[in-house]
Amino acid sequence: MNNLVFPILRLLADGRFHSGEDIARQFSVTRASVWNAMQAAEALGVEIFSVRGRGYRLPDPLQLLDGQAVLNALHDQRQRFKLVLFDSIDSTNSYLMQQAANGAAHGTVAAALLQTKGRGRRGRSWQSSLGASLTFSLLWRFQMGAAALSGLSLAVGLALVRTLHDYGLRSAQLKWPNDIQVRERKLAGILIELQGDMDGPSAAVIGVGLNLRLPAAMRAQIDQPVTDMASDLPVSIDPNELLGSLLRQLARVLDEFEQEGFGAMREEWQAHHAYHEEVVKLLFPDGREQYSRVHGVADDGVLLVQHEGGIQRFSSGEISLRGCAA
Ligand code: BTN
Repeated sequence: MNNLVFPILRLLADGRFHSGEDIARQFSVTRASVWNAMQAAEALGVEIFSVRGRGYRLPDPLQLLDGQAVLNALHDQRQRFKLVLFDSIDSTNSYLMQQAANGAAHGTVAAALLQTKGRGRRGRSWQSSLGASLTFSLLWRFQMGAAALSGLSLAVGLALVRTLHDYGLRSAQLKWPNDIQVRERKLAGILIELQGDMDGPSAAVIGVGLNLRLPAAMRAQIDQPVTDMASDLPVSIDPNELLGSLLRQLARVLDEFEQEGFGAMREEWQAHHAYHEEVVKLLFPDGREQYSRVHGVADDGVLLVQHEGGIQRFSSGEISLRGCAA
């Protein structure tokens, strides 16, 4: 990795032109080194305008994650987290899973300006580029075993929706088990990976990808309807404030989950479910489809649907759900 890339990108984050000469002077390097760094940035998928006689600039101004600003945004919850901020990393979940196995502390957060191999549920990938999405993972250790964590992914989804509503994004809804969507377009995804014994103790790596401002080219590459916060909110979002708010809300929800289980938040979750009491299409791994009405979710997070006069239960590995308009 070229060490100049991210220092220069932080400089270019103002969206203005900076000449190669000025940048070279600022970092005490040659103009050729600046050029090499800009090539390396482009290889990472960062779009950079380069105009002869004017220099380099980003397509738009960007606010980038900054460790101190995130810590400030945690307010009185600051002591509960340990933040590790990467300029670029393959996957914050992969990193934290490895760290968790090596004894990393409860509350460790790995966040990245750029994630090059983000992973999604069901072996999918999570695409992001500089400033396009907020990508982070949180390590949470539980006394209870992995078997008792079945409702955890729904609880985490609720923490995201509460935060988004606080931001004024009232149209953010949940799609079982834990997608966040706005008008049936995906805004955020959650990937939870577990370690430890079925009987306890256990550890969860909670990965969150939240779209902030998706470039048109990236939207076109994603194989499902997507949206971003910029499409619905008139003001630009400070990712540091947003990450601080998400982590504070996650700590609240995870405390509640640990003490009372998902059952205590089940009603609230259902109230935010985009398809509560609606007919949905259920897709089975073997290609079968079934249309059923959503009855709700159970205390362990399984989906309950009405089917042929009875109630069927599905866990998240068994089916995926589509709205009937999809
Ligand atoms: C999904 O909807 O499929 C889940 C997407 C989760 C993406 C996040 S981005 C931060 C963390 N690191 C990863 O590699 N994945 C999660």
